[in-house]
Order: sequence, then C-alpha cells, then structure tokens
Amino acid sequence: MNQITTSSRLVGLRESVIREMTRKAIEHNAINLSQGFPDFPPHPEIIAAAHRALDDGFNQYAVTWGVPALRHAIRAYMQKWYGLEYDVTREITVTCGVTEAIIASFMGIANAGDEVVIIEPYHENYVAAAVFAGAKPVFVPLLPPHYELDLDKLRAAFSNKTRAILLNTPHNPTGRVFTRAEMEGVAALCRECNAVCVTDEIYDHILYDGRQHIPMASLDGMYERTITVGGLGKTFALTGWRLGYACAPARLSQALRTVHDFTTICAPAPLQHAAVAAFQLPDSYYEQLKRDYTLRREKMMGILENAKFRATPPEGAYYVLAEYADWSTTLDDFEFADYMTTQVGVAVVPGSSFYCTEGLGKKQIRFAFAKKLETLDAAEERLLRARP
Ligand SMILES: Cc1ncc(COP(=O)(O)O)c(C=O)c1O
Repeated sequence: MNQITTSSRLVGLRESVIREMTRKAIEHNAINLSQGFPDFPPHPEIIAAAHRALDDGFNQYAVTWGVPALRHAIRAYMQKWYGLEYDVTREITVTCGVTEAIIASFMGIANAGDEVVIIEPYHENYVAAAVFAGAKPVFVPLLPPHYELDLDKLRAAFSNKTRAILLNTPHNPTGRVFTRAEMEGVAALCRECNAVCVTDEIYDHILYDGRQHIPMASLDGMYERTITVGGLGKTFALTGWRLGYACAPARLSQALRTVHDFTTICAPAPLQHAAVAAFQLPDSYYEQLKRDYTLRREKMMGILENAKFRATPPEGAYYVLAEYADWSTTLDDFEFADYMTTQVGVAVVPGSSFYCTEGLGKKQIRFAFAKKLETLDAAEERLLRARP
C-alpha cells in the first residue's frame, strides 16, 4: 500500500516541548515548574460568574467576534490602562487564547514567501504560526545575561520581504520588559519597511520593581500597524479557559477575523460571559497580583541561588532562564531537563527549545514560578537534596 503523506509545511515542527514536559511531569510525579500555568485558583468572583453563566443558559455559539459585553470590557480595559481606543464592533476580537490570535494574525496578513521577524528566545507557538501562514521566520537572538535587543541585528533581519514582526513584552522566557528605546527601534523599522507589529502582551500586568508596560500601539505611528494581542490566562489564572483577544484597526482586524471565523467560530460562550467579571475586578486586584508575583520571584531567585543555578532576575512575566553549569557540564539541556524531571522530581523546560539558531540556549533551563509558595518550597526541598 502507498504510504499516506502529510503536509510538507509541517516538516520541522514537533510536539510543543513545554507541553511534553508537563506530560512527563505527570508521568514521573514531578513538581511542574515547566509549563507556565498557575497552580492556584482564579478570583472567586470569576468562578461564581462562570457558574451563573452556565445556569443562565449560555451554552450555544457566541457571536463570532466575541460576546459584546466582553468586547466592551476589553475596550474599557485598553482605554483605561493604555489610553488606546478600539471600536467594539470592528476592532476587537475574542479568540481561543493568545495562541489562536497570533495564528489568525499571521494567517490574516502574510502571504507565502513573506518573512516574519521573530525574536529568539520565543514562545514555541510563534514559529508554528509563521509556518501555518506559509511565511518564513527570520530570527533575531537576545543573548544572556541581559537579553537586550540588538537594534543593528534587528535592522539586518528586516528586508523588503518583511511582512511582520512578533514582539512579546514582558517577555517569556527571558523576563525582559523592553525599554522604550528598544520598542522605538522596533517601531521605526516597522514604519520604514511598512511592516505590521504583532505584539503578544499577555503578561502586561506581571511586572516587577515598579516597571510600567508600554504597549507598542501607543508609540508614534504604530496604532495603525499594530495587532495587540492579550489574554486572560495569565493575569486572571485562567489558562484552561482559552480566552484571548486581538485589538487592531479595522482592516487588520477584518483579516484575522476571517481566519478566526473559519477555524474556531468563537471562544467558549459561557466562559466569555464569565470573563466580564474578571475585567470588573478593582485595581487592587492588579496591585495584589504584582505583590504576589514579586514574592514568588524572590522565592524562586533564592531557591536558584541556594541550589547553585545562575540566573538574572526577570523584569516581568513569571519565568527565569537559569544556567546549570554547576550541576553538569556534560549533559545538554534536553538531557538535563529530563534528569531534573525524572531523577530530581522538578520539571523544567530545556533552554534551546526557545531558540531555532543552533547552539543557543543549550546550557539553560527554564523555571516557571506561577506557583503557590508551598509548591516552590517543595521544589526547593527536592533541588537541595540533589544539589551538587
Ligand atoms: C508569551 C506567551 N504567549 C502566549 C502564550 C499562550 O497563551 P494562551 O494560553 O492564551 O494561548 C503563553 C503561554 O505560556 C506565553 O508565555
């Protein structure tokens, strides 16, 4: 019998390493510091709203672009925090997570052969999104220990084929919060090359040491060429609800909406209704969020120091890339992550899975610390027991 063939587009894509590590963590009963999801519950008012939404019978398709009350809530959020105005009817789209919003954005704007600039290390999903769109990813690396954006390298990555750049700030996995100067550098190139900036701002409220989030769309001349993608998963500890959104001028929104319309139709209807309650939480929720994550970051950095890992404290988001040279100079990052998960009992992600460029990230692993302090304590106990 002839072998059934599958799409050649997918060659080079493999199962998400992060999600594979979660499977391994479950299999080996390891404490899961690999995948970036909170192990604590969402605010009780959000859960109560979800119960109400089911009781109220919101069980059928939602309007494709998102439940109007939720789009209004997103509009108010973007206006209140960032002074950005989006039209509820045409410019805000609720998606199944940030992941879908980015895929829909790339598929909506790129043609086969176009290039999209992706900053390494990156969230695995970006490369898949480029591949699905038929676009060629062009990588610009951020290098340890400071992971600064090298604007000369960035300029070299742009060409007349560049259709878009994906910028994630606060950044997973480095924890960088890009400075205004770095962002202005990106913006200038986008304007010069007539490129779209797709920004992944899912960690916009997870910031340390008084840092402020600067949305790309707020920079001069960027509103009209930016698709701002955000999500509820991280800020409200709802990663399993699969709720994200894309805010962009009508022409760009229309393009991504076409993809969204024919792939997922809509995000889960009852959860969209419930999510309105998340946006109604008072400002004190966000202040507490920062305080809680600051405690988790301090705990994580202390653990890493005690356990002889070397790392730079993140400026935002809830990850830290750590070097493990004191533990092993012979195991590569995949082998070491495997050893950590199966022998030490703490699951982490191999650093090179965030890079495409050969050799980068090879001596690093990523820890996610969106966890209860007692979970981090338990991880510390295991790490100290196994420490060199
Ligand atoms: C930078 C970044 N973007 C997107 C996602 C995925 O978002 P969602 O669960 O809303 O699809 C993650 C999850 O870890 C992330 O870190």
